[in-house]
Amino acid sequence: MNASTSPTPLLHMRAVSKQFVLHLQSNTVLPVLKDFDLQLMPGECVRLSGPSGMGKSTVLKLAFGNYRASSGSILVRDTQGPAIDITQANARTVLHLRSQTMGYVSQFLRVIPRVAAIDIVAEPLLEGGASLYSATQARDIAAQWLTRLRIAPSLWQLPPATFSGGEQQRINIARSFIKPRPLLLLDEPTASLDPENTQTVIDLISEARAQGVGILGIFHDSLVAQAVASRTVAMQPIS
Ligand SMILES: Nc1ncnc2c1ncn2[C@@H]1O[C@H](COP(=O)(O)OP(=O)(O)OP(=O)(O)O)[C@@H](O)[C@H]1O
Ligand SMILES: [Mg+2]
Repeated sequence: MNASTSPTPLLHMRAVSKQFVLHLQSNTVLPVLKDFDLQLMPGECVRLSGPSGMGKSTVLKLAFGNYRASSGSILVRDTQGPAIDITQANARTVLHLRSQTMGYVSQFLRVIPRVAAIDIVAEPLLEGGASLYSATQARDIAAQWLTRLRIAPSLWQLPPATFSGGEQQRINIARSFIKPRPLLLLDEPTASLDPENTQTVIDLISEARAQGVGILGIFHDSLVAQAVASRTVAMQPIS
């Protein structure tokens, strides 16, 4: 890199505000974020902290394009071309960013009926027109991730709808980490995990950071937070 150029953040949230309008509650307006700023650089793991209901998950959902900001901008550095403001992006662009640029682990797996766990994990490798992998290769790689996350092979061919909370969370983690992407959004990724699997997730986060991945995460467990986070952004109540 040229010494005179400062690196571009992977994620740059500028003066982001979000209010929910509750249409079923006489259009009550619920302000959650006001002028929220955040920059995430490659290799960082930034922890969002703050009491329940403060808007931590909302920040991740705004960055992932699940929620639309009421105002402000959210620039996501694309793998090809200039940064994209996800607050202005159309659905196709959001899908492109999710496929190529950012992964998201929510606490709950969005289960796709009748699709086997191994195929849910393999799917990100097969998305997009020109996949690098055949279906068999993608399944082989998925099997390695399922093994690392200690999902019993007897479960691999089953749809995860009936899996335990911790098993579903590990499927979600495998699916998000299987495809290397520069930005990861993690919402309490170890909330349902036992100590061994929690340690595996800590290792995965450290390995991703070492490869330059930027991580924005919510880590309820302070030991996990200490192990993975390079800095903390404390969410403040809005005035
Ligand atoms: N889709 C939505 N519609 C209406 N209100 C919402 C919606 N999503 C979040 N909220 C509200 O926004 C506020 C912040 O929610 P959020 O889930 O971001 O909190 P949090 O900091 O992640 O809390 P926790 O630590 O409990 O997970 C809450 O008061 C919540 O009720
Ligand atoms: Mg939350």
